[in-house]
Amino acid sequence: MIKYFKADPWKVIEEGFNPEMNEIAESVFSIGNGMMGQRANLEESYSGKSLQGTYVGGVYYPDKTRVGWWKNGYPEYFAKVINSTYWSGLRIWINKELVDIQEATVNSFYRELDMHNGLLYRKCNITLKNGISVDIESTRFYSLINKEYSALRYKITPNTACEIKIENYVDADVSNKDSNYDEKFWEEIKQESTENKLFVTVKTKKLNWHLCTGVKFFLFSGDDEISSIPTHSQHPKFANSIYTVNANGGQTITAVKHAISASSFHHPIESLELHTKKTLEKMAASTFESHLDMSAKAWQEKWKSSDVEIEGDVEAQQAVRFNIYQLNQTYCGDDPRLNIGPKGYTGEKYGGSTYWDTEAYCLPFYLATSDPAISKQLLVYRYKQLDKAIENAEKLGFKNGAALYPMVTMNGEECHNEWEITFEEIHRNGAIAYAIHNYIEHTGDKAYLAEGGFEVLLGIARFWSQRVHWSQNFGRYEMHGVTGPNEYENNVNNNWYTSYIACWCMMYAAESVEYLQSNYPSEFSNIIKKTNFNIGMETEKWNHINENMYLPYDENQKVFVQHDGFMNKELIPCDELAPSERPINQKWSWDRILRSVYIKQADVLQGLYFFEDQFDMNTHKRNFEFYEQFTVHESSLSPCVHSILAAKIGFTEKAYEMYLRTARLDLDNYNNDTEDGLHITSMAGSYLSIVQGFGGLRIKNQSLYLDPHCPEQWHGYKFRILFKNSPVSISVNHSGTSVQNHGESEIEVHFKQQRILIKAGGVVNL
Ligand code: BGC
Repeated sequence: MIKYFKADPWKVIEEGFNPEMNEIAESVFSIGNGMMGQRANLEESYSGKSLQGTYVGGVYYPDKTRVGWWKNGYPEYFAKVINSTYWSGLRIWINKELVDIQEATVNSFYRELDMHNGLLYRKCNITLKNGISVDIESTRFYSLINKEYSALRYKITPNTACEIKIENYVDADVSNKDSNYDEKFWEEIKQESTENKLFVTVKTKKLNWHLCTGVKFFLFSGDDEISSIPTHSQHPKFANSIYTVNANGGQTITAVKHAISASSFHHPIESLELHTKKTLEKMAASTFESHLDMSAKAWQEKWKSSDVEIEGDVEAQQAVRFNIYQLNQTYCGDDPRLNIGPKGYTGEKYGGSTYWDTEAYCLPFYLATSDPAISKQLLVYRYKQLDKAIENAEKLGFKNGAALYPMVTMNGEECHNEWEITFEEIHRNGAIAYAIHNYIEHTGDKAYLAEGGFEVLLGIARFWSQRVHWSQNFGRYEMHGVTGPNEYENNVNNNWYTSYIACWCMMYAAESVEYLQSNYPSEFSNIIKKTNFNIGMETEKWNHINENMYLPYDENQKVFVQHDGFMNKELIPCDELAPSERPINQKWSWDRILRSVYIKQADVLQGLYFFEDQFDMNTHKRNFEFYEQFTVHESSLSPCVHSILAAKIGFTEKAYEMYLRTARLDLDNYNNDTEDGLHITSMAGSYLSIVQGFGGLRIKNQSLYLDPHCPEQWHGYKFRILFKNSPVSISVNHSGTSVQNHGESEIEVHFKQQRILIKAGGVVNL
């Protein structure tokens, strides 16, 4: 853990330049707009350690799998989000010396991520080896309005008269650090440099994704545009324009780059270049400042329904806003083919692909803070991939429309190739069904079942009904050879969480049948035909499984058993592990981890979190106390679930302790891996720790429930959510709670045991 960034309620601030921290800062200061994004690579040359990263949503590379022992059913490739055309770079020479912060003396350095307005700002003063000092000021953003547009304003002020040579460039000759075979993924199509415009079109070696990047460049002295004729040089996958200007001491030269990055993910290849050119022309006709202003206003709107204010703890305040900001710049629901990679647009790790993290952790954030249409896109994403999930299950021997959603995917195909995860970590299917339920509980949009939701539920229920087997010996259904959410145990039998969620999916599918029969008979009869659904036989089987499924329970401890044999392990709590042994995934051999009792992340407790109403408080307490002592929280997804459960059962100190482990995970580099990119999906969990944990907020059956308390360490907190289209703010402090309905219709709130109606515009103090 390292406290490096300065605390501020709306900003993340870096003061002073520390090359050791550069890659971490590049991750933390990442910017994006839900369709594309970029690490905070310095604009000018930098010869120190850096991970260059510019990412365009939907464009990926199927990098050929690398694996020791090939197993049937493995995917051929691991999809990688591709490091794409770098548009924001400038090379600058002052009196022929290259500006490189690594080589220069840095006299002052200030960088901030302005989360309220969605921009990255930097100001520094450096002295070059030739003795000239320059002030540099840069502002960069990705527009929240036009999602293909990004822009940079870069100011240079030398302290003495000098020649400034500026190379404006667009570079697609870039590579991925995590490329399996060290190959470059992009191939040249075309580059063009005309006056102040540059265009580079490239395509991926496989899948033929095309990306066209256009930049229009302006140079100003004060407010006056400098009309200087640039020179150009030719390189593959690269275009540039080089300008030379003479500046006086104290004179500011401003460079402005308007950029459009358009891909064949959104446009036909034939018209991509024309589209890029037209859009660039249109955008560059307005000023940098006007685009920034519009984008900032859109950010301010987002904050109106997603902000969390914390009084009395500026670090906590900064942290929660940082998490909300990163989630909003990773996903905006623009396109049902896009999803949320665990690192968003901030790094290459995890391939930028979709995991169960989306449904289990991220969806509730978007449900609480955005228009339901945004969350719905996440469901539609899986619906569109249903055929692939059915194919995926067929490859593993399942039939009759059984669907197994992939553990990791870009387009519906499985990308993961560790057998214990690909074939065994099948609980992910449950989270996808659970998300449909969660969405409907929030929005009341039961019509979604007829639109596509039920087909997904059916495929999933069919999978589970084939995946369990009847044990003749015990006269019950069992499920063998699985990996639960705790990946520190593989190939176990009867993982309680997996079996429980499997049964729940079959039950929910059966309930949905009844609903559709009564409410959407004609749509349902089409679904029956399309899916060859034998209602009687199939639902009967689901019910039989539900009634006879083995869910392990320990009579002594009175807790659910994580999986067969768990109780026979050496039950030594993690507190007794020497700090030098942790994290165990870096200190222990894999076999030692597998044999141990230690739990990577919530497993039984994940089930209690999802299905809380099905268990009483004592069951929650007993299971929490039993399992938490063995949990090492070595997945970033772990502490948040524990924090929410601890808050629910009244373990307030524990809830706060767990919250602290999740809130500043990246800002303080807790896991020593922020340089790879940010933990975007766990950021949703961290938000939920406050809103669901401390705030006790639940939305069930389209009603809002609150059971808040205020952590002792804070004076109070306030969060805003969007409930039935009404923005609602909830303020909690040590003397009470106030709920304000900013919307135009009355809302119903269940506060602890009380039912309260709040008129449009009304406030209730409780
Ligand atoms: C966790 C998984 C998660 C993945 C991506 C792993 O470390 O164990 O549950 O889906 O990271 O966040």
